[in-house]
Parts: sequence; structure tokens; C-alpha cells
Amino acid sequence: MSSDIFDKVKNLIQEIEASKPADAEELEAFRLRYLGTKNILKPLMAEIRNIPNEQKKDYGQLVNQAKQTAEAVFERLQTALEQAADQAAFDGLDLTAPPYPQELGSRHPVSIAMNRIVSIFERIGFSVAEEREIEDDWHNFTAMNTPEDHPARDMQDTYYVKDSVEYLLRTHTSSVQSRVMTSQKPPIRIIAPGRVYRNETISARSHCQFHQVEGLYIDEGVSFADMKQTLLLFAQAMYGPDVKIRLRPSYFPFTEPSAEMDVYWGLESEVDYRITKGTGWLEILGCGMVDPNVLENCGIDPEKYSGFAFGMGIERQAMLAYNLPDIRLFFENDVRFLKQFKGAF
Ligand code: PHE
Repeated sequence: MSSDIFDKVKNLIQEIEASKPADAEELEAFRLRYLGTKNILKPLMAEIRNIPNEQKKDYGQLVNQAKQTAEAVFERLQTALEQAADQAAFDGLDLTAPPYPQELGSRHPVSIAMNRIVSIFERIGFSVAEEREIEDDWHNFTAMNTPEDHPARDMQDTYYVKDSVEYLLRTHTSSVQSRVMTSQKPPIRIIAPGRVYRNETISARSHCQFHQVEGLYIDEGVSFADMKQTLLLFAQAMYGPDVKIRLRPSYFPFTEPSAEMDVYWGLESEVDYRITKGTGWLEILGCGMVDPNVLENCGIDPEKYSGFAFGMGIERQAMLAYNLPDIRLFFENDVRFLKQFKGAF
């Protein structure tokens, strides 16, 4: 009897090795038969109690061998079937078919305007400086010669970080000036694009977040004329070679003297009247000679060095360039709006 059952298991091993399931269904039948919870090896293993003691070890090994063979064969067959399926899928491929069109993203109009401004200054030797948006009071205000009682420091205008009088969301990119001046030695020639925040009521014309580009140039003997020439060159590159600019006296705590630069926009349409308030001139940026106090605050000798700085808002320029009626469009991320800037850089 015992040799009978040995033969039975041996036959089973042969049967397993000879199995050739043709598809997934037959493979599953194979798995159920030899490896499933009610597989035919189980009762054979149970037979071990009827085997004479001296043959128990051999019998156990033989049934185990049957099980391992079933596992190995199953794995081999499964891989073979998968490969056959892959091959079939590949054989069905039409390699000459045109690809699906790829949906390309588009740049944000603010990025487009910002990149354009930055690249103009890069051409004349300015390099990009980027800094943090959460800034401390010193870099945003104190170093920039903005007195303690200046209205800009009011909670109504500045977002302070919760429970802090020390940290705030920068209100202008001029904070990059103090960051750079305290960490680099002149000559300094940087252009700093970035996002700024002010606690303003959101409307079609103003938002609590917007973007600026800041410029700073410090060296020995830098004059107001250098600033004017640099800004003229920028305006020509940005608005065309025939652009007219004018500088109006103004006030910023961190520059002295200070000015605002206008470009001549024209007065041809009703819109021109509205956006230039009837003057034909459009204010583009604030600028001035870096106040000696600022240089001193940042550890630069004002007796030896002088410099100029300027800062401009981006959204308004992008609104003018693309004829957009509402600043809020920039921050809503509506793809119907954004995809209209495809292909622009
Ligand atoms: N920081 C000023 C603003 O936000 C702009 C400015 C920058 C003016 C640099 C002068 C020099 O309005």
C-alpha cells in the first residue's frame, strides 16, 4: 500500500510538470487544483499518519516536493502568460499612428511680465536676488529708514505673523535691498522679483497680494544721472524706443532724493483718459538715491559708496499690456483665463 501511494504522488509531480494551461482560466484551474485551499495535495499529506514510521520522512519530503513543484510551475506559467499578453498587445500596436496631442501649460501673465522686466536688467549686468516673503521688521522697515511711527507699520496696512510684532509678510521687495546690502559688498547690482502683501480691501484695482520688481545698484560714484539713464534704457526696452519718460519728485523713507517715473501713454481714447487721470502720463515705478542712513544701517560706508534703487508693481503693467479689467483675475487660477496666455513668454 505504501509504495502505491508513493507512486501516486510521483505521478502527480509528473502531471504538474507536464501542465500547460493555455489561458488565464486554465491557469486558475491549475492553481485551485494544486495550490488552492482544497488542493489535492492536502489529503495526500494527511495520509502520512498511515505510512509506516520508517517511511514517514521520505513520504513527507515527496509531498513537499510536489507542492514546491506546483508553486514553481505556477509562477513560470503565470509569467509566460503575462509575457504572451504583453506581446499580443504590442503586436496590435500601430507605431505609425499619430500621438495624442499634448496639453501644454502656459505661463502666468504676471510671470511673463516679470520675466520680461528681469531679462531687460539682466542684459545690463544686474543679477537676480530672491528673498523670503516672511520677513522681520528690521529688514522690511527699520533698516529701510522707516520710522517707528510710519503709517505703513500700522496693523491696518501690514500683515503681521500671528501674535508677533517682529515678523510680517513683506510689504515691498525693498526688504531684499537690506538683505543683500548686509550680506554682500559693493559693487552691488541686483534685480529682485517677488510677491508682496498689503492689508488692502480687495477690489478690481487692488489686492492684498501682488508682485514687485526691485532694483538696487551700489558702487563708488553712482549718481542720479546713472539712475535716470538706466531707467530710460529700461523704458525703451519695455515700451519701445520712442517712449517718453519723466521723473516727478516724490518721497520714500529709504531714498533721498526720491522720484516717481511716468511713461507717456497717450490720450487717444476714453480709457487712456481714465488710466492716466487725464494727463496722458502713467506712473510706472518709484525710485531714488539710496538714503545714506540705509547704507549705514546695512554696514556700507556712505562716504565711499552711493547708489540708486527702484521698485515697480507688476500686476498693473500686465493689466495694461493685456488690457485686463480686473486684478483679481490674476489670483483666481481660472484655466479659462490662464490658457489664453499660451505660447507667450
Ligand atoms: N518700495 C517702494 C514701494 O513699494 C518702491 C521703491 C523702491 C521706491 C525702491 C524707491 C526705491 O512703493
